[in-house]
Amino acid sequence: MIIAIDGPAGSGKGTITDIIAKKLNLVNIDTGATYRCIALATLKNNIKLDEKDKIIELAKKQEIIMDENKNVFLNGKDVTKEIRTKEVTKIVSQISSIVEVRKILVDLQRNMANGKNVILEGRDITTVVFPNADYKFYLDATADVRAMRRFKQNKEQNIDMTLKEIKENIEKRDYNDMHKPVGALRRTEDQIYIDSTNMTIDEVAKKIIGYIRGDEEK
Ligand code: DC
Repeated sequence: MIIAIDGPAGSGKGTITDIIAKKLNLVNIDTGATYRCIALATLKNNIKLDEKDKIIELAKKQEIIMDENKNVFLNGKDVTKEIRTKEVTKIVSQISSIVEVRKILVDLQRNMANGKNVILEGRDITTVVFPNADYKFYLDATADVRAMRRFKQNKEQNIDMTLKEIKENIEKRDYNDMHKPVGALRRTEDQIYIDSTNMTIDEVAKKIIGYIRGDEEK
C-alpha cells in the first residue's frame, strides 16, 4: 500500500505521517530529508548555489539512508539534526528546484519504497513520485498557523529562529515550492484536500485514517 501526502512547509505533514505510520504499521519516508541531505552536502563542500553542475555531480555521489525511526544518515554519518538547521533550511528549496537533483532523489525515494507498505510526505509525491498511490492527500493551513507550528516545534528542538524569520522563510519556500519547473507543489482533482488550520493534529490523523479505512467519503 502506498499513501502519499503533499502540502506546504509547516502544514503538519511530518507529524501526521509519523502518527499514521505507527497506527497503520507503515514505513515512513520523509522525502524532504533527502533534499535536505543534498543541501547539507552542498554547504559542507563549499559549493555555491549557482554552481548547478557541481551540485548535480555531488548529488550523484551521496549515500542517503533512513532507518525505521526516521534517523537520516548521509555517507554513513547521522545527520538527523544537522539537516534541520537554519543554514540548510534557507537553501533547500533552491537545491530542490534543480531538475537533475530531483530526478536522482525521486529514483532514490521510489527505491526506498520498493516492495513495502509506505507512507510518504513531500511536495510532489501525489503528482510525480507515486501518482498511482492508493491514497493521495493534500494537507494545507494558513501561513500564519504554519509559522507558529514550526516556531513551537523548533523551540522543542532548540532551533533558534524568530517567528518573523520563520514566516518569511515559509512564504519564500511556498513561492519556490509552487513555482518549480518540475515537481512543483500543486493541488489536483484526485487528491483529498484537508485544511488543518483549525484542526488539531489528532483530528487530522483521525480524518486521514478514516479515509484509508473507508469510514470517510472522498
Ligand atoms: O518538508 P521539508 O521542509 O523538509 O522539505 C525540504 C525542502 O525540500 C522544501 O523546500 C521542499 C523540498 N521538497 C521537495 O521539493 N519535494 C519533496 N517531495 C519534498 C521536499
